[in-house]
Amino acid sequence: MSETATVPLTATRIGGSFVADVTDIDVARNLDTAWDAIHAAYLEHKILAFHGQQLTAKQFHDFGERFGVIEPHTVAMYHHEEFPGITVLSNRVEMGRPKGIRDAGSHWHSDYSYKEIPANVTMLYALEIPNGGGDTMFTDLAAAYKAFPEAMKRRLDGLKALHHYRHTKDRDHPEGRWRLLSEVEQEATPEVVHPVVRTHPETGEKSIFAFPGITSGIQHILGMNLAESKELLAEIYAHCTDRRFRFTHKWQVGDLLLWDNRCTMHHATTDILPADQFRTIYRINTRGTRPV
Ligand code: SIN
Repeated sequence: MSETATVPLTATRIGGSFVADVTDIDVARNLDTAWDAIHAAYLEHKILAFHGQQLTAKQFHDFGERFGVIEPHTVAMYHHEEFPGITVLSNRVEMGRPKGIRDAGSHWHSDYSYKEIPANVTMLYALEIPNGGGDTMFTDLAAAYKAFPEAMKRRLDGLKALHHYRHTKDRDHPEGRWRLLSEVEQEATPEVVHPVVRTHPETGEKSIFAFPGITSGIQHILGMNLAESKELLAEIYAHCTDRRFRFTHKWQVGDLLLWDNRCTMHHATTDILPADQFRTIYRINTRGTRPV
């Protein structure tokens, strides 16, 4: 456990190499005075958890705007009706229509990695949480990169990979997300190329930027045959999801969790939530910079 003595904010490390609990902050009231400390803690800990917050959609949106340009989700039907920059995640069905995305990614991924300019921050604000389950898992991809042997780092540095939103085109996957895309949305999600190792634009730290996600994820590494690429990716994923780099967030109503997509990946567990357990969360993503 380490304490970050940034007044007026206390950030206490709760994961091994990343993640801090933030106390003494009411985001709706202290945002102006605490902003510099929040931003510094976010860069230091990669994931921040605030508890017991009571935010309106507007206050959550205002918080999101501090981190950059808010980028609405690719699938418009899940946008909040007043603030399209907020995506609603929910397994509730109201008037025969899904209230939100039932499963925003029960696989390892980093938000918007399928875009030329992926997200820097994701923030989630919990409105309704089941009695059990619905946790979100994370891995620290900077720590994972650092722990690779030097020979592996040399092998990975300079490699590039092809990412695509409809990566597996799996019609039977419960998300079925690709089927919901309009032609315009499909055109807005072409294949993109990113480095397998990226350097964080604010901290200078290197991390892995490779994801096995279902609807977003890597198709293959460029310049390798498919079998060789598959084998290397499997090795990267096995290393990055090792227990020593992991953290699991167990949700409570009023939690505000934010993370840095440039050096972490995450995995929802909503695909296994029982049908009588409800979870409703607001999400915001902000636009980052081109990975280099
Ligand atoms: C996400 O993958 O962006 C959301 C994670 C969650 O719902 O737990």
